Amino acid sequence: MDIINKRRSVRSYLSTPVKSEDLEMILRAAMQAPSAKNQQPWRFLVVQNTETLKKLAEVSTNAKMLLEAPCAIIVIIDKTNLKTEMMAFQDASAATMNILLEATSLGLGTCWCGIYPNQERMDNLKSILKVNESYDVFSLIALGYPKDKDALYFIDRYNLNRIHYEKF
Ligand SMILES: Cc1cc2nc3c(=O)[nH]c(=O)nc-3n(C[C@H](O)[C@H](O)[C@H](O)COP(=O)(O)O)c2cc1C
Repeated sequence: MDIINKRRSVRSYLSTPVKSEDLEMILRAAMQAPSAKNQQPWRFLVVQNTETLKKLAEVSTNAKMLLEAPCAIIVIIDKTNLKTEMMAFQDASAATMNILLEATSLGLGTCWCGIYPNQERMDNLKSILKVNESYDVFSLIALGYPKDKDALYFIDRYNLNRIHYEKF
């Protein structure tokens, strides 16, 4: 798929707000992800308020691009009523990946910023976003139309040395 090849981490964006129809497509894609026992533990917090984005950037050494990004999606795990707790993080990971790919197909740039299991990052985000103890903050995705028109491009990472058949 071309979008898999062209997805890149983009850390510089235009200030143009993300179109609401693009955002809906992205959130729809997120919820199409597979999940263990179909438990769909995810919640999505969309942040477009400049002040909040700035606060998030200030506490995050790993997400300074939020000073420029017009939008962030925070993938959150609802820990109540999980059918298989251990798998919830993999579910959230699949949803995060769907967000990146759908955004790429719409010409948007994304950057997956790792939050879980870094306790300090989780606590910082929970505090700013007022997320209570029933939830875990899993990932933060910076989102925006890329400043560089060539930001989405193919890098070939195919490496035969990493493939094994039948025996490892
Ligand atoms: C689990 C995970 C956590 C990541 N965390 C960060 C992060 O905190 N900040 C950041 O700028 N990029 C982060 N990245 C993006 C990686 O740096 C990036 O995917 C990698 O360098 C490969 O580049 P590409 O995405 O353009 O293929 C993360 C990626 C993953 C999958």
